[in-house]
Amino acid sequence: MDGRDLVRSVKAVGSAGVAQGLRTVRAAWRRRRADAAALPSRGAERARVPGSVQGAEPGPGGGVLRFDRSELRIVVAGNGAVFWGWDGAGPEPSYALAGRCPEPDPRALLEPDKDGGWRVVSERMTVVVSRHGAIEVRTPGGVTLRRDQPPRWWEPAGGGPARWMQRSQVPADARFFGLGGRASGPRLRDGTYRLWNTDPGRAFGPGDDPLYITMPVQMVVADAGTHLVFHDTTWDGTVKLREGEEGAGSGHDRAGTSELRADGGPLRCWVMVGTPARVLLAWASLTGAAAVPPAWALGYQHARWGFGTEQEVRRVVAGYQERGLPLDAVHLDIDHYDEHQVFTVDEDRFPKLPQLAEDLRADGIRLVSIVDPAVRAAPGNAVYDAGTAEDAFVRDASGRVVRGVVWPGEAVFPDFTHARVREWWGELYKERLTRGFAGFWHDMNEPTSFAAFGESTLPRSARHVLEGRGGDHREAHNVYALCMARAAYEALRTLEPDQRPFVFSRSGWAGMQRYGGTWSGDVATGWPGLRASLALVLGLGLCGVPYSGPDVGGFDGSPSPELYLRWFQLGAYLPLFRTHASLRAGRREPWEFGAEVLEHARVVLLERRRLLPYFVTLAQLARRTGAPYVRPLWWSAPEERALRDCEDAFLLGDCLLVAPVLAPGTDRRAVQLPRGRWYDTATERAYEGPGQVLVEAPLSRIPVFARAGAVIPVRGPEGDLELEVWAPAPGRFGGGLVVADAGDGWDEPEFERYVVRREGRSVVVEREGEDGVSEPPHPVRVRGLEPA
Ligand code: GLC
Repeated sequence: MDGRDLVRSVKAVGSAGVAQGLRTVRAAWRRRRADAAALPSRGAERARVPGSVQGAEPGPGGGVLRFDRSELRIVVAGNGAVFWGWDGAGPEPSYALAGRCPEPDPRALLEPDKDGGWRVVSERMTVVVSRHGAIEVRTPGGVTLRRDQPPRWWEPAGGGPARWMQRSQVPADARFFGLGGRASGPRLRDGTYRLWNTDPGRAFGPGDDPLYITMPVQMVVADAGTHLVFHDTTWDGTVKLREGEEGAGSGHDRAGTSELRADGGPLRCWVMVGTPARVLLAWASLTGAAAVPPAWALGYQHARWGFGTEQEVRRVVAGYQERGLPLDAVHLDIDHYDEHQVFTVDEDRFPKLPQLAEDLRADGIRLVSIVDPAVRAAPGNAVYDAGTAEDAFVRDASGRVVRGVVWPGEAVFPDFTHARVREWWGELYKERLTRGFAGFWHDMNEPTSFAAFGESTLPRSARHVLEGRGGDHREAHNVYALCMARAAYEALRTLEPDQRPFVFSRSGWAGMQRYGGTWSGDVATGWPGLRASLALVLGLGLCGVPYSGPDVGGFDGSPSPELYLRWFQLGAYLPLFRTHASLRAGRREPWEFGAEVLEHARVVLLERRRLLPYFVTLAQLARRTGAPYVRPLWWSAPEERALRDCEDAFLLGDCLLVAPVLAPGTDRRAVQLPRGRWYDTATERAYEGPGQVLVEAPLSRIPVFARAGAVIPVRGPEGDLELEVWAPAPGRFGGGLVVADAGDGWDEPEFERYVVRREGRSVVVEREGEDGVSEPPHPVRVRGLEPA
């Protein structure tokens, strides 16, 4: 953008800004009026608890317990997870589940327990139900992981959805994680966390909650075991967490508590017990395998709100190329639309988009398009006209199409909870593909509708089809983005059957990994924002969403060169590695921060490219096992308490431990190492865990450790796959899985299994196959062997 363009756009924003401001006032009034008319206040409410158990009816995998005032259905599923639902609620229908609910485990039996209670014994856990409806989950060894008190409901005397509350206790030493993307995490400290997908409306930091992705999914880690609990209701709610306290051997432990309140929806949940890896495997088998991004989406990507013109895109791309900096994708934001209207292009400023896409493609760079759900409500706008003819837009309780305000002005919102609308919307991606776009960036889909006051979303009374069941926005809000992602993903599979779709979405819900990933949203530029970036990626991974990453450099303002570089260094080890910033923010290209930053950023970009085969392997493993690429340090040692509280380092797969620099003026930092031998990859010096070590963290790099025995697939100098093998400690073994890239289509890649052993001063690497061991088919480079 040159100086004149800048003046012009500021002027445009100026006058358009006033009109937009007025629209947001009108929209806020409309929203308030609509809800006042359609959702009268709840009035008097009657409280209810289940009462006493009256009888039991065994069934496959468990059975039904009848209480005075409710009914409890318990089913242990074949994947080891247990489901229970009150008031007769079953697992379906559910937006979280992938296809059909897993079959019950016929071995799990409902049997009488002491004091008039009942229990269901299964392979992985025992569920004990008291006479009054308290539910305990115990390990096979009999240790309690979770105790739910009998729930409570409040029913409006005049009818309508019942609110409910479920209070639970967890062991005194337990730590909470998850609940979607939380900026203050990954460890969720005492506080109240809301379950309502929310655009904070400005750049956010660790104190802002809720954000774009909320999920009633908690991962609870305690000495006694790890469990994941998922309350399958999409309604607004809160989770109040309080960590327990141990009485230092006095026997007076205070349990941790979690109190979930929901404004409606069924009171039902799933619990999974085991190691973190087993728990996430069960979660993935329930909610679906994570989509595997094409390999280029595991490279480095550059986005910007406000490239403004094709020439500017070319200038930035040339900037990377002239400096020999790898670049794999460029993202176009709403400024490439014609007046911010989705599925259009500003033909004056982007007159030859397909040509641009083709030229970039020839250089190995893909083009990604932002897609906003809101459609400008103006006859003549083709998407609006077609959507109107299709009856695709959300209506209010009196049948009028709901109007909100987003970037294009007055706008209407497709009802993605309707299969027919998803299909119609999905067809629109054809236009994007013709323009040359290869990936899709879903935004503003909480959904956001700007409002001068009240909440910046649709009226709660707005009607949704909800797959034919019918309901309103209170139920549909949290799954709006999930359904939008589904629309895109399913359509792309038909439109381009031999390409894996690349979709990532700002908002979402449990199960969104089936369709793609997400990113941080508008994380504030500053050191707290850097910390929040990592918290979000870790927390989402533990909720089953493995692919995400921040706006490197932060969304707003201008990072100092040091902050920018530290963000870049962290971002390189996160699945989505993308610089992005707001229209009004400073530059984000690595060469804009001085020669020193540029040189260090170059090293980062080259290292990311070198590690690409490892990211490909992690993406495949995420799909097969549910394990996120980025894992907390406690992943394979949840019993090591020091690791549970460690929030400034993470594991990247099984092989690497990354210790980013999250504070200014740092040149060394402490790193908590899990059990085993770890090598500082920069110096090859070996450290023995568990324990804390102090290592150098100069501006030029962040500490990265490799686990002894690790086999890391990397890109060799010729672009071929090589194995970087880190020496096992003497007398020890190592090994791992490598999944070679089988292209961006649907070919099943081969899983290569390696074993590594130490023989005196040398290291032997072998491939394990069905017919025994063989030489690895790739060059091997052994590292970490101390010099003779
Ligand atoms: C939202 C997105 C941001 C995008 C902007 C304009 O703020 O979070 O990434 O640049 O909208 O589309």
